[in-house]
Amino acid sequence: MNEKVMEAPAAVQAGPSAAFRETLRTYPTIYHLRECARRRLPGFAFDAGDGGVGADKGIARNWNALDAVELLPRYGVAKGLPPTGVELFGQRYGAPIGIAPMGSPGIVWPDADALLAKAAQRARVPYTLSTVSGMSIEEAAKHAPDVFWLQLYRFPRNEHAIGFDLTRRAAAVGAKALVMTLDVPVRTTRTREVLSGISSPFRFTPKMIMQALGCPSYCAAFLRNGIPRFANFTKYAGDNVGLNDMSKFIQGESGGAFTWEDVARYRDIWRGPLIIKGVMHPEDAERAIALGCEGLHVSNHGGRQIEGLPATIDALPGVVAAANGRAKILFDSGVRSGLDVVRAMALGADFVLAGKAFLWGLGAMGERGPDHTIELFIDEMRATLGQIGVRDFLAARKVPIRHNSAFRIA
Ligand SMILES: Cc1cc2nc3c(=O)[nH]c(=O)nc-3n(C[C@H](O)[C@H](O)[C@H](O)COP(=O)(O)O)c2cc1C
Repeated sequence: MNEKVMEAPAAVQAGPSAAFRETLRTYPTIYHLRECARRRLPGFAFDAGDGGVGADKGIARNWNALDAVELLPRYGVAKGLPPTGVELFGQRYGAPIGIAPMGSPGIVWPDADALLAKAAQRARVPYTLSTVSGMSIEEAAKHAPDVFWLQLYRFPRNEHAIGFDLTRRAAAVGAKALVMTLDVPVRTTRTREVLSGISSPFRFTPKMIMQALGCPSYCAAFLRNGIPRFANFTKYAGDNVGLNDMSKFIQGESGGAFTWEDVARYRDIWRGPLIIKGVMHPEDAERAIALGCEGLHVSNHGGRQIEGLPATIDALPGVVAAANGRAKILFDSGVRSGLDVVRAMALGADFVLAGKAFLWGLGAMGERGPDHTIELFIDEMRATLGQIGVRDFLAARKVPIRHNSAFRIA
């Protein structure tokens, strides 16, 4: 892999632009993006991006647990604008915030895949393409050549022929990391998707059409881009396969979540950084490290798979302790501000990702939304670091932290 080390773009280093300050008057926080997305999007599109499993209690637990983490500041030491650039796996990124993999984000906002990838490239933050995205690996690499990661689900048929080929394709176009998702062993019910009538493959119901007609900007974006497809699979299912057959093909090929034996086999063929997504238990951290994985991604899928898990911020300290510096710790689920990013990093994360926050940006602002979401994260990270009186993210780990709900294994 071509490990080009790059600097954060000048715009990120220089601090907030005048355009950002102006947009801040309408969307001062990610919470405002969410409220605007709720009003502006057709109901089904908002639910597709915003909803979780069950009664959304897993989502609420992630949020509440993050909100409860307190950082004790020190004052009296004058500091300049804290830097936000960080290095991860030999790459220099503009900030320790990246875009988590999201399948079919085109339901939330047509052409979301490409818009997210381009914004990530502009800000030099990671963009993770989902296996089941509307954009192919090759297109993602064109839009985000310096920051593109690939996420993989399990396709065990024919000795993992499809999964291995996807991995080779990612290597061929210079993907910077491979992310294996372990936390979707079974399909679960996303309540708001079901109530909205969302199916796989995606089909417009009369109710959805009525909702979409009430949202002119969504309709215009949809007319330009059409129904989201599973672009990575045309190579295997054929170019002329309709959405129905494609969906059946993917269901027939996929099966369960990766086992540790699978991870070992992917480790053999993928030479770049390998990240395991969905690590919550310290023993899983140990297992992944023993297999040579460089990244442990603490995630509960943003509360979309099961409601009864601990908040990821509560599982984080156990994974950090188990890894003990032997792997990089990535973190997501519930992150809605630069303050949340600093909280996670103060508790030992090396890098943070977010999913829904970027979809809210798209829903609120259309194609300019992902840029504003990234800038909000960066601006708030800087303000938080400055406010707690530390120079950078590493120093934030020395700040006294109150975090009473950390998960302890007896
Ligand atoms: C619409 C949507 C689709 C998702 N699809 C995938 C996926 O294809 N693969 C995956 O590993 N995670 C997927 N996730 C989970 C995210 O990668 C991430 O773990 C989660 O969104 C983080 O929580 P947050 O949304 O609170 O930031 C998806 C999340 C959302 C919101």
